[in-house]
Amino acid sequence: MSALVEIRDLEVDFVSRGTVTNRPIRGVTLTLGAGEVLGVVGETGCGKTLMGLAVLGMLPRGAVSRGSIAIDGRLPSARGARSVRGDVVSIVFQNPGTAFNPVFTIGQQMNDVVARHLGLRRAAARERVLTYLRLVRLPDPDRVADSYPHQLSGGMLQRAMIAMALLCEPKVLILDEPTTALDVTVAKQILDLVLQLRDELGIGVLLVTHNLGVVSEACDRIAVLYAGRVVELGETSDVLASPSHPYTRGLLGALPGRHTPDMPLEAIRGSVPPNLLAVTGCAFADRCPIAVDACRVTDPALEGGSGHEVACIRAGVPA
Ligand SMILES: Nc1ncnc2c1ncn2[C@@H]1O[C@H](COP(=O)(O)OP(=O)(O)O)[C@@H](O)[C@H]1O
Ligand SMILES: [Mg+2]
Repeated sequence: MSALVEIRDLEVDFVSRGTVTNRPIRGVTLTLGAGEVLGVVGETGCGKTLMGLAVLGMLPRGAVSRGSIAIDGRLPSARGARSVRGDVVSIVFQNPGTAFNPVFTIGQQMNDVVARHLGLRRAAARERVLTYLRLVRLPDPDRVADSYPHQLSGGMLQRAMIAMALLCEPKVLILDEPTTALDVTVAKQILDLVLQLRDELGIGVLLVTHNLGVVSEACDRIAVLYAGRVVELGETSDVLASPSHPYTRGLLGALPGRHTPDMPLEAIRGSVPPNLLAVTGCAFADRCPIAVDACRVTDPALEGGSGHEVACIRAGVPA
Protein backbone atom coordinates (compact mmCIF):
# COMPACT_ATOMS: atom_id res chain seq x y z
CA MET A 1 0.00 0.00 0.00
CA SER A 2 1.43 3.37 -0.94
CA ALA A 3 1.56 6.18 1.59
CA LEU A 4 -0.89 9.06 1.40
CA VAL A 5 1.97 11.55 1.15
CA GLU A 6 5.40 10.45 0.01
CA ILE A 7 8.08 13.12 0.09
CA ARG A 8 11.33 11.94 -1.53
CA ASP A 9 14.57 13.85 -1.17
CA LEU A 10 12.84 17.23 -1.36
CA GLU A 11 15.01 20.28 -1.91
CA VAL A 12 13.66 23.83 -2.08
CA ASP A 13 15.71 26.72 -3.44
CA PHE A 14 15.15 30.45 -3.59
CA VAL A 15 16.60 31.86 -6.76
CA SER A 16 17.26 35.49 -7.53
CA ARG A 17 18.47 36.60 -10.98
CA GLY A 18 19.48 33.06 -11.83
CA THR A 19 21.51 32.51 -8.66
CA VAL A 20 20.45 30.26 -5.79
CA THR A 21 20.31 32.58 -2.75
CA ASN A 22 18.98 30.18 -0.11
CA ARG A 23 18.22 26.48 0.24
CA PRO A 24 15.78 26.24 3.17
CA ILE A 25 14.80 22.58 2.51
CA ARG A 26 17.77 20.27 1.97
CA GLY A 27 16.79 16.72 1.15
CA VAL A 28 13.70 15.82 3.20
CA THR A 29 12.28 12.31 2.88
CA LEU A 30 9.05 11.63 4.80
CA THR A 31 5.85 9.64 4.46
CA LEU A 32 2.40 10.16 5.92
CA GLY A 33 -0.10 7.31 6.09
CA ALA A 34 -3.89 7.46 6.02
CA GLY A 35 -5.22 7.95 9.54
CA GLU A 36 -1.81 9.03 10.78
CA VAL A 37 -0.90 12.24 12.62
CA LEU A 38 2.71 13.14 11.84
CA GLY A 39 4.24 15.95 13.85
CA VAL A 40 6.82 18.17 12.17
CA VAL A 41 8.64 20.06 14.88
CA GLY A 42 11.50 22.54 14.95
CA GLU A 43 12.28 26.14 15.83
CA THR A 44 11.09 29.07 13.75
CA GLY A 45 13.00 29.21 10.46
CA CYS A 46 13.63 25.47 10.18
CA GLY A 47 11.53 25.16 7.00
CA LYS A 48 8.28 23.72 8.39
CA THR A 49 5.92 26.09 6.60
CA LEU A 50 7.81 25.77 3.31
CA MET A 51 7.51 22.00 3.57
CA GLY A 52 3.75 22.29 4.09
CA LEU A 53 3.43 24.64 1.12
CA ALA A 54 5.47 22.23 -1.00
CA VAL A 55 3.06 19.40 -0.15
CA LEU A 56 0.17 21.69 -1.11
CA GLY A 57 1.88 22.61 -4.38
CA MET A 58 1.84 26.29 -3.42
CA LEU A 59 5.50 27.18 -3.83
CA PRO A 60 6.50 29.32 -6.80
CA ARG A 61 7.36 27.46 -9.98
CA GLY A 62 10.92 26.19 -9.92
CA ALA A 63 11.29 26.44 -6.13
CA VAL A 64 11.34 22.65 -5.81
CA SER A 65 14.81 22.07 -7.24
CA ARG A 66 15.09 18.36 -6.47
CA GLY A 67 13.02 15.43 -5.29
CA SER A 68 9.32 14.64 -5.55
CA ILE A 69 6.08 14.63 -3.60
CA ALA A 70 3.49 11.99 -4.41
CA ILE A 71 0.00 12.41 -3.00
CA ASP A 72 -2.11 9.28 -2.79
CA GLY A 73 0.26 7.52 -5.17
CA ARG A 74 0.11 10.27 -7.79
CA LEU A 75 3.03 12.44 -8.82
CA PRO A 76 1.46 15.65 -10.05
CA SER A 77 3.20 17.39 -12.90
CA ALA A 78 4.69 20.76 -11.98
CA ARG A 79 2.05 22.51 -14.03
CA GLY A 80 -0.88 20.59 -12.65
CA ALA A 81 0.29 20.61 -9.04
CA ARG A 82 -2.29 23.07 -7.80
CA SER A 83 -5.32 21.51 -9.40
CA VAL A 84 -4.33 17.97 -8.46
CA ARG A 85 -3.56 18.81 -4.86
CA GLY A 86 -6.27 21.39 -4.22
CA ASP A 87 -8.89 18.70 -3.83
CA VAL A 88 -6.85 16.19 -1.81
CA VAL A 89 -4.76 18.43 0.46
CA SER A 90 -6.03 21.25 2.66
CA ILE A 91 -4.17 23.60 4.98
CA VAL A 92 -5.07 25.53 8.14
CA PHE A 93 -2.76 28.41 8.94
CA GLN A 94 -1.62 29.70 12.29
CA ASN A 95 -3.71 32.74 13.08
CA PRO A 96 -7.46 32.13 12.99
CA GLY A 97 -8.02 35.85 13.70
CA THR A 98 -6.63 36.90 10.34
CA ALA A 99 -7.29 33.80 8.24
CA PHE A 100 -10.91 34.80 7.54
CA ASN A 101 -11.89 37.89 5.59
CA PRO A 102 -13.32 40.31 8.20
CA VAL A 103 -16.04 41.76 5.94
CA PHE A 104 -17.87 38.54 5.11
CA THR A 105 -19.67 36.15 7.46
CA ILE A 106 -18.19 32.72 8.13
CA GLY A 107 -21.10 31.20 6.22
CA GLN A 108 -20.54 33.39 3.16
CA GLN A 109 -16.87 32.44 3.03
CA MET A 110 -17.58 28.74 3.43
CA ASN A 111 -20.40 28.98 0.87
CA ASP A 112 -17.93 30.42 -1.59
CA VAL A 113 -15.70 27.38 -1.26
CA VAL A 114 -18.62 25.01 -1.68
CA ALA A 115 -20.01 26.90 -4.67
CA ARG A 116 -16.63 27.17 -6.39
CA HIS A 117 -15.34 23.66 -5.78
CA LEU A 118 -18.48 21.56 -5.59
CA GLY A 119 -20.93 23.66 -7.60
CA LEU A 120 -23.69 23.23 -5.02
CA ARG A 121 -26.76 25.46 -5.10
CA ARG A 122 -27.80 27.73 -2.25
CA ALA A 123 -29.82 25.44 -0.02
CA ALA A 124 -27.52 22.47 -0.51
CA ALA A 125 -24.45 24.65 0.03
CA ARG A 126 -25.86 26.04 3.28
CA GLU A 127 -26.68 22.52 4.45
CA ARG A 128 -23.12 21.39 3.75
CA VAL A 129 -21.66 24.39 5.59
CA LEU A 130 -23.82 23.64 8.64
CA THR A 131 -22.88 19.96 8.51
CA TYR A 132 -19.19 20.83 8.66
CA LEU A 133 -19.62 23.42 11.41
CA ARG A 134 -21.41 20.68 13.35
CA LEU A 135 -18.61 18.20 12.55
CA VAL A 136 -16.09 20.44 14.30
CA ARG A 137 -18.37 20.55 17.35
CA LEU A 138 -19.40 24.19 17.06
CA PRO A 139 -22.56 24.73 19.08
CA ASP A 140 -25.33 26.56 17.21
CA PRO A 141 -23.91 26.25 13.67
CA ASP A 142 -26.61 28.56 12.27
CA ARG A 143 -25.46 31.41 14.48
CA VAL A 144 -21.78 30.74 13.71
CA ALA A 145 -22.48 30.74 9.96
CA ASP A 146 -24.18 34.13 10.23
CA SER A 147 -21.40 35.65 12.36
CA TYR A 148 -18.58 37.86 11.22
CA PRO A 149 -15.10 36.71 12.28
CA HIS A 150 -14.77 39.37 14.98
CA GLN A 151 -17.87 38.04 16.71
CA LEU A 152 -16.26 34.67 17.45
CA SER A 153 -13.52 33.62 19.89
CA GLY A 154 -10.12 32.41 18.69
CA GLY A 155 -11.00 28.80 19.48
CA MET A 156 -14.32 29.01 17.60
CA LEU A 157 -12.58 30.63 14.62
CA GLN A 158 -9.99 27.88 14.52
CA ARG A 159 -12.78 25.27 14.55
CA ALA A 160 -14.51 27.12 11.71
CA MET A 161 -11.19 27.27 9.83
CA ILE A 162 -10.81 23.50 10.19
CA ALA A 163 -14.42 23.05 9.02
CA MET A 164 -13.65 25.15 5.95
CA ALA A 165 -10.52 23.12 5.24
CA LEU A 166 -12.57 19.91 5.37
CA LEU A 167 -15.45 21.11 3.15
CA CYS A 168 -14.10 19.42 0.02
CA GLU A 169 -13.25 16.18 1.82
CA PRO A 170 -9.45 16.28 1.56
CA LYS A 171 -7.43 13.16 2.33
CA VAL A 172 -4.61 15.18 3.87
CA LEU A 173 -4.95 18.05 6.32
CA ILE A 174 -1.94 20.25 7.04
CA LEU A 175 -2.16 22.22 10.27
CA ASP A 176 0.53 24.91 10.44
CA GLU A 177 0.97 26.01 14.08
CA PRO A 178 -2.78 25.46 14.68
CA THR A 179 -2.65 26.20 18.39
CA THR A 180 0.12 28.79 18.65
CA ALA A 181 -2.29 31.75 18.81
CA LEU A 182 -4.60 30.06 21.34
CA ASP A 183 -4.77 29.73 25.14
CA VAL A 184 -3.49 26.46 26.55
CA THR A 185 -6.92 25.04 27.36
CA VAL A 186 -8.39 26.02 23.99
CA ALA A 187 -5.31 24.59 22.27
CA LYS A 188 -5.92 21.28 24.02
CA GLN A 189 -9.54 21.24 22.80
CA ILE A 190 -8.42 21.89 19.22
CA LEU A 191 -5.89 19.03 19.41
CA ASP A 192 -8.59 16.71 20.78
CA LEU A 193 -10.83 17.74 17.89
CA VAL A 194 -8.09 16.99 15.34
CA LEU A 195 -7.69 13.49 16.78
CA GLN A 196 -11.46 12.89 16.70
CA LEU A 197 -11.64 14.04 13.07
CA ARG A 198 -8.72 11.81 12.16
CA ASP A 199 -10.58 8.84 13.67
CA GLU A 200 -13.90 9.73 12.05
CA LEU A 201 -12.64 10.68 8.59
CA GLY A 202 -9.47 8.57 8.32
CA ILE A 203 -7.52 11.57 7.03
CA GLY A 204 -3.76 11.93 7.31
CA VAL A 205 -2.68 14.95 9.33
CA LEU A 206 0.60 16.83 9.06
CA LEU A 207 0.83 18.78 12.31
CA VAL A 208 3.45 21.50 12.02
CA THR A 209 4.56 23.23 15.20
CA HIS A 210 7.55 24.69 17.03
CA ASN A 211 6.12 23.23 20.25
CA LEU A 212 7.29 19.74 21.15
CA GLY A 213 4.59 19.64 23.83
CA VAL A 214 1.90 19.82 21.14
CA VAL A 215 3.36 16.95 19.10
CA SER A 216 3.89 14.80 22.16
CA GLU A 217 0.17 14.98 22.94
CA ALA A 218 -1.28 14.54 19.49
CA CYS A 219 1.09 12.77 17.13
CA ASP A 220 1.73 9.13 16.24
CA ARG A 221 5.17 9.93 14.86
CA ILE A 222 7.51 12.89 15.12
CA ALA A 223 9.86 14.32 12.51
CA VAL A 224 12.30 16.79 14.05
CA LEU A 225 13.30 19.34 11.42
CA TYR A 226 16.47 21.38 11.77
CA ALA A 227 17.75 23.79 9.13
CA GLY A 228 15.77 22.15 6.36
CA ARG A 229 16.64 18.53 7.19
CA VAL A 230 14.96 15.82 9.23
CA VAL A 231 17.43 15.12 12.04
CA GLU A 232 15.31 12.63 13.99
CA LEU A 233 12.27 10.57 13.07
CA GLY A 234 10.32 7.98 14.98
CA GLU A 235 7.26 6.93 16.93
CA THR A 236 6.40 9.70 19.38
CA SER A 237 6.90 7.47 22.41
CA ASP A 238 10.35 6.32 21.18
CA VAL A 239 11.56 9.82 20.39
CA LEU A 240 10.36 11.19 23.72
CA ALA A 241 11.71 8.26 25.75
CA SER A 242 15.10 8.21 24.06
CA PRO A 243 15.77 11.39 22.12
CA SER A 244 18.98 10.71 20.20
CA HIS A 245 19.81 13.91 18.35
CA PRO A 246 21.31 16.69 20.51
CA TYR A 247 18.81 19.09 18.89
CA THR A 248 15.84 16.94 19.96
CA ARG A 249 17.33 16.72 23.45
CA GLY A 250 17.70 20.49 23.43
CA LEU A 251 14.05 20.98 22.43
CA LEU A 252 12.96 18.60 25.19
CA GLY A 253 15.16 20.33 27.74
CA ALA A 254 13.60 23.66 26.83
CA LEU A 255 10.05 22.35 27.33
CA PRO A 256 8.43 23.72 30.49
CA GLY A 257 6.86 21.01 32.60
CA ARG A 258 9.34 18.30 31.67
CA HIS A 259 12.26 19.63 33.65
CA THR A 260 13.00 18.29 37.11
CA PRO A 261 15.33 19.66 39.81
CA ASP A 262 18.19 17.62 38.35
CA MET A 263 17.26 18.50 34.77
CA PRO A 264 16.85 22.28 34.69
CA LEU A 265 14.97 24.21 32.01
CA GLU A 266 17.58 25.15 29.45
CA ALA A 267 17.47 27.15 26.25
CA ILE A 268 19.42 25.93 23.22
CA ARG A 269 22.17 28.48 22.71
CA GLY A 270 22.39 30.34 19.41
CA SER A 271 19.82 30.29 16.63
CA VAL A 272 18.96 28.60 13.34
CA PRO A 273 21.36 29.76 10.58
CA PRO A 274 19.34 32.19 8.41
CA ASN A 275 21.05 31.04 5.22
CA LEU A 276 22.02 27.44 4.64
CA LEU A 277 24.06 27.72 1.47
CA ALA A 278 27.29 28.34 3.34
CA VAL A 279 26.82 25.50 5.85
CA THR A 280 29.19 22.55 5.58
CA GLY A 281 28.81 19.46 7.72
CA CYS A 282 26.03 19.25 10.30
CA ALA A 283 24.08 22.53 10.45
CA PHE A 284 23.60 22.09 14.20
CA ALA A 285 27.31 21.71 14.98
CA ASP A 286 27.84 25.34 16.01
CA ARG A 287 25.11 25.08 18.64
CA CYS A 288 25.76 21.49 19.69
CA PRO A 289 27.15 20.77 23.16
CA ILE A 290 28.83 17.52 22.03
CA ALA A 291 30.07 18.43 18.54
CA VAL A 292 33.54 17.29 17.44
CA ASP A 293 35.62 18.37 14.43
CA ALA A 294 34.20 15.61 12.23
CA CYS A 295 30.70 17.11 12.66
CA ARG A 296 31.77 20.14 10.65
CA VAL A 297 32.99 18.03 7.75
CA THR A 298 30.10 15.78 6.68
CA ASP A 299 26.36 16.14 7.06
CA PRO A 300 25.23 12.78 8.46
CA ALA A 301 22.40 10.83 6.82
CA LEU A 302 19.30 9.72 8.71
CA GLU A 303 19.99 6.20 9.99
CA GLY A 304 18.67 3.71 12.50
CA GLY A 305 16.58 0.60 12.96
CA SER A 306 12.99 -0.15 14.00
CA GLY A 307 11.58 3.10 12.70
CA HIS A 308 13.62 5.37 14.95
CA GLU A 309 16.21 7.21 12.88
CA VAL A 310 18.69 9.93 13.68
CA ALA A 311 21.14 12.02 11.64
CA CYS A 312 24.07 12.46 14.01
CA ILE A 313 27.50 10.88 14.27
CA ARG A 314 27.43 11.60 18.01
CA ALA A 315 24.01 10.05 18.63
CA GLY A 316 24.03 8.22 21.92
CA VAL A 317 26.95 10.19 23.35
CA PRO A 318 25.78 11.67 26.65
CA ALA A 319 25.56 15.48 26.69
N1 LIG B 1 10.99 34.23 -0.10
C1 LIG B 1 12.04 33.75 0.56
N2 LIG B 1 13.32 33.96 0.14
C2 LIG B 1 14.38 33.47 0.78
N3 LIG B 1 14.31 32.72 1.90
C3 LIG B 1 13.08 32.48 2.40
C4 LIG B 1 11.89 32.97 1.77
N4 LIG B 1 10.81 32.54 2.49
C5 LIG B 1 11.32 31.84 3.52
N5 LIG B 1 12.68 31.79 3.47
C6 LIG B 1 13.57 31.15 4.42
O1 LIG B 1 13.20 29.81 4.58
C7 LIG B 1 13.47 29.37 5.90
C8 LIG B 1 12.36 28.52 6.42
O2 LIG B 1 11.17 29.28 6.53
P1 LIG B 1 9.81 28.67 7.11
O3 LIG B 1 9.42 27.46 6.33
O4 LIG B 1 8.83 29.78 7.17
O5 LIG B 1 10.21 28.22 8.58
P2 LIG B 1 9.29 27.77 9.80
O6 LIG B 1 7.90 27.59 9.31
O7 LIG B 1 9.91 26.51 10.30
O8 LIG B 1 9.39 28.86 10.82
C9 LIG B 1 13.74 30.62 6.73
O9 LIG B 1 15.09 30.64 7.08
C10 LIG B 1 13.41 31.75 5.80
O10 LIG B 1 14.34 32.80 5.97
MG1 LIG C 1 6.14 28.52 9.93
